[in-house]
Amino acid sequence: METACCDRGAEKVLDEFKHLLNVKVGQKTPDGKFSVSSLRCVGACGLAPLVTVGEKVYGRVAPESVKDILAEYN
Ligand code: FES
Repeated sequence: METACCDRGAEKVLDEFKHLLNVKVGQKTPDGKFSVSSLRCVGACGLAPLVTVGEKVYGRVAPESVKDILAEYN
């Protein structure tokens, strides 16, 4: 949630995760499977906006791709 990611729409990506998981930042889903947090720069600004799920990194994430990312873990 720093300049490169924010300038490229990180807030909308975060909003989509919160919407689809029905949680706020810092909360876990009722099944404990997911929690949502916002990060400071992870040093991969060329891939902004960037999402990490566990050890996996997703670059240039659009809000429309959030449901596909989550589907990988269902
Ligand atoms: S600002 Fe997002 S990786 Fe640097």
